[in-house]
Amino acid sequence: MPKRIKKEIAVIILAAGKSTRMKSELPKVLHPLCGRPMLGYVLDLVTSLKPAQVVAVLGYKQELVRKIIPKGIKIAIQKKLSGTADAVKVGLSVLRGFKGTVLVLYGDNPLLKKETLKKLLDYHLENNVDATLLTAQLKTPAGYGRIMRDKYFSICGIVEEKDADEVQKDIKEINTGIMAFKKEKLSANLGSIRPNNRKKEYYLTDIIEIFAKKNYLVDGLKIQDTGEALGINTRAELAKANCLMQKTINDKLMQEGVTIIDPPSTFIDFGTKIGKDTVIYPFTVIQRGVKIGKRCFVGPFAHLREGVGLGDGVVAGNFIEMVRSRIGSKTLIKHFSYLGDSSVGANVNIGAGTVTANFDGKNKNYTVIKDNVNIGSDTVIVAPVRIGKFAVTGAGSVVTRNIPDKAVVAGVPARILKQGGKHG
Ligand code: UD1
Ligand code: MG
Repeated sequence: MPKRIKKEIAVIILAAGKSTRMKSELPKVLHPLCGRPMLGYVLDLVTSLKPAQVVAVLGYKQELVRKIIPKGIKIAIQKKLSGTADAVKVGLSVLRGFKGTVLVLYGDNPLLKKETLKKLLDYHLENNVDATLLTAQLKTPAGYGRIMRDKYFSICGIVEEKDADEVQKDIKEINTGIMAFKKEKLSANLGSIRPNNRKKEYYLTDIIEIFAKKNYLVDGLKIQDTGEALGINTRAELAKANCLMQKTINDKLMQEGVTIIDPPSTFIDFGTKIGKDTVIYPFTVIQRGVKIGKRCFVGPFAHLREGVGLGDGVVAGNFIEMVRSRIGSKTLIKHFSYLGDSSVGANVNIGAGTVTANFDGKNKNYTVIKDNVNIGSDTVIVAPVRIGKFAVTGAGSVVTRNIPDKAVVAGVPARILKQGGKHG
């Protein structure tokens, strides 16, 4: 898109709504998709377009939502949630003095892609359209506003599902909610919208009929990938969107050289880093911010939570849970273990069933395990504890005190059997 055109675009993101159909206390746009609030994806998308101005319209629990709004984005508050047209009006009040194209996006539409928006904006600007809608052809259009076309196939309005008759409900072309407008015409006509519908709300979609009746140029661009059109109103739609987003994340990782044995049973959040030639086995959950080096083996049934970093060549095998832990290269943690709040060195062997007892009921305590340590099976490490390099713990040890380098300990509580061990 030429720079000249880019400067003429302002974006209004609607994110004031409640979580009515989600039946949730959390605002809908904060519900996570692959570990990140759905609104976060929309905000990223908008930022990547580099428009002249962006305003997010917030309302329900705005104090929570505003925490994820980046600095360059303005915030407008919709005091009474009386519909999408009213929300756009609130957004426009912040864009005073702006002339050009207003792009309206919904915060519950996180799968939308940048290329699609660019296409919509290019089409809108090149053809000098007054309102361009992004539409989609769906096999099951239930829940969405339907696009109405006249006998010349021109768009003449949008009817919401709740207000549609049986014939209209059969229409398969739906409104994705994404629209580009000439700002002047949008501002001048929003006031004509009346809440004459089942929900008694001011619907932005009603502006299309108003435009059409005035013979303004209204046009639609059909989205190719219908998954992008998914608007999330219910928990079932959230699960569907999560599944699609997961596929995108997993596909990207595989393209980058990560082996994922069974992508549908591998749950990797947005914002993780995984090195080349690492293999992820099925039924594994890797949460946001986790970093995994090259040539690692993870899973099956591994749960890597926030703050986990694995060096190159680490094995985190079956039934491993880790949180806030750094693991040095070539360390092996192969069978059912829990490591929390720990720093583990390189070339360490963590025996089956090892547990860091990191929580004393009040505080989280830290475990340090230095390089080349050998932790025997079923060792419980009662943190805070530091285990020196080349130390060895016997099977079933309960470690309650620091262990010097090269020492061998065993028992409950663990006592030093040998100073200096085999490497001494
Ligand atoms: C809307 C469209 C529908 C379209 C669908 C696509 C309207 C009237 N209907 O329906 O045609 O097919 O999206 O997903 O626009 N919001 C506010 N303030 C309000 C009400 C809503 O900011 O007063 C925000 C919500 O937070 C949400 C967005 O606007 O992000 C859309 O609202 P929602 O209630 O989800 O509309 P849908 O019923 O999905
Ligand atoms: Mg919606």
